[in-house]
Amino acid sequence: MCGIVGYTGPREAGPILMEGLSRLEYRGYDSAGIALVDEEGQMFVEKKAGKLANLSTAIAERTPHSAMGIAHTRWATHGRPNDLNAHPHADCSGKITVIHNGIIENFRELRDGLEARGHRLESETDTEALAHLVEEAYAGDLADAVRAALRRVEGAYAIAVMHRDEHGRLVGARKDVPLIVGLNGEESFIASDVAAILAHTNRVIFLEEGDIADVRPSGVEITNVAGVPQDRAETVIDWSPEVAEKGGFEHFMLKEIHEQPNALRQALAGRVTRDHRIHVPEIEAMIPTLGTITRIELVACGTASYAAQVGASALEAWTGLPARVTVGSEFRYSPPPLDAGTLVIAVTQSGETADTIAPTRLARERGCPIIAVTNTVGSAITREAGAVLFLQAGPEIAVAASKTFVTQVTTLVVLAAAIARIRGSMTEAAEIELAHALRDLPDAAQRALELNAPHASDLARRYVNSRGFMFVGRGATYPAALEGALKLKEISYVHAEGYPAGELKHGPISLLDAECPLVAIATRSSTYDKLISNVMEGRARDARVIAVATEGDLQIERFADDVAWVPATHEAVSSVLAIIPLQLFAYHMAIARGTDVDQPRNLAKSVTVE
Ligand code: AGP
Repeated sequence: MCGIVGYTGPREAGPILMEGLSRLEYRGYDSAGIALVDEEGQMFVEKKAGKLANLSTAIAERTPHSAMGIAHTRWATHGRPNDLNAHPHADCSGKITVIHNGIIENFRELRDGLEARGHRLESETDTEALAHLVEEAYAGDLADAVRAALRRVEGAYAIAVMHRDEHGRLVGARKDVPLIVGLNGEESFIASDVAAILAHTNRVIFLEEGDIADVRPSGVEITNVAGVPQDRAETVIDWSPEVAEKGGFEHFMLKEIHEQPNALRQALAGRVTRDHRIHVPEIEAMIPTLGTITRIELVACGTASYAAQVGASALEAWTGLPARVTVGSEFRYSPPPLDAGTLVIAVTQSGETADTIAPTRLARERGCPIIAVTNTVGSAITREAGAVLFLQAGPEIAVAASKTFVTQVTTLVVLAAAIARIRGSMTEAAEIELAHALRDLPDAAQRALELNAPHASDLARRYVNSRGFMFVGRGATYPAALEGALKLKEISYVHAEGYPAGELKHGPISLLDAECPLVAIATRSSTYDKLISNVMEGRARDARVIAVATEGDLQIERFADDVAWVPATHEAVSSVLAIIPLQLFAYHMAIARGTDVDQPRNLAKSVTVE
């Protein structure tokens, strides 16, 4: 998501910070900013929307001499990408500056409280509240103030904080978002990524959950939020700059697959309350309209259309309204009946897909209420919609979608439940049951990774010479079959099809033999027994079977040659966990076949032409 870099030491901080930001450019961002304390002890802050070059130009010729500073590349989650919303953010006195990666969930109530107590907040961000909370708590010791401020904060964060009057001191903190401290004799660093500081040091401390780092040029003291000292080991990094960019992973896709638990945490931040209720403030202004709609049309392409299928099933089940998915390129020229009673939900991670934008615009012109679900603040789709739900998944660099699929599914399921509650068609008990599952989902995704990552390479090698693959699911697991097949074909160039398992006998079963394995999404569901019958049909044709199954399923190994285990979850979000071993399988098939994982042939990350 956002990039953080901080420096304290004997050298000029400005150039070190700007070079650090340039190392984080690969992550994508929409604005950047820097804060430096000059030789007179004055705070210098500059922030600019757009490319890092804009910030460089703005500070050229006037960067003050400074031995400490913090700098940031922003990837917007709250508030538009403009100069004002860019970090660092300052308190009322301008003495304290803060940069932040993550989402403060209770920022609305924090902001309201701060404003009621006389603070002036200038931006639309959640982060600015932090600067003012530190200001309120400050009594001469920055680390104490940060600890006190964080005790009032709910959400995920990695932060770096600086006070004009505390020479040489930076304070960092992390919860659910990575942050590191770099050490190099007489100078120290704070950073979101190793890549930002690797040119200066390879001695790093990876902060752990709840750590507060009190960073001075000579070293760091780490406590928890209550001030209790924490012992953290130093790691010597031997990554090349290229590997460091990818967080130690060989490819962005693998990094992004492993980021999914955190992406889910961010996607759910503020949307599932502590008392297990679903909360989607983005659609509050549409409540009267959502109460009167008669149909729901979802429009999307590729991976987003498979996520939309999960959303459509949830919407139909919980609202009782007809809901269906049409891929953008079909919707545009053969639109369904569209009127003010038709809610259109456009799903697109980039927000720039021409095939999705054109039909959404058409629907808007015909008077349909529009909700957009996207990962990209400020993207074209946001201008077409009455309400926008952001995935909050952070930038996805690999062409093949991974973390945006699981966050699309999750966000759509949350949206479906919120619409159903508005319409009174979902019981409180059903909402609470779903909310429990959603709160557990990031940890379940982590477990799915731990269960499958160590074996995925061996699994791929056993199947690498297969002629093609048939992915099957039923009901809730069918979209995962479609997405699993798409992942495999787009990065490994092996033919793969996704089918509803019951359709096998209506044609595609003729493809099955010892060279064409069956990948069955056989997680616990209401159609599990039916799916197993379909798997048996495949086995009878000599097809080898890879099953994705729920932990504790005692019978699946009788029907499958290989089993990829995932934890149990609510059926509505089962595809979030089921897709994880399939992403890993596709990734390792591509590695085994020597293809370009992050930039597969003939494909682009964002398809902005028809
Ligand atoms: C997914 O791996 C593909 N790269 C592709 O199907 C993609 O999902 C599709 O082009 C839609 O993109 P969007 O979500 O940015 O609209």
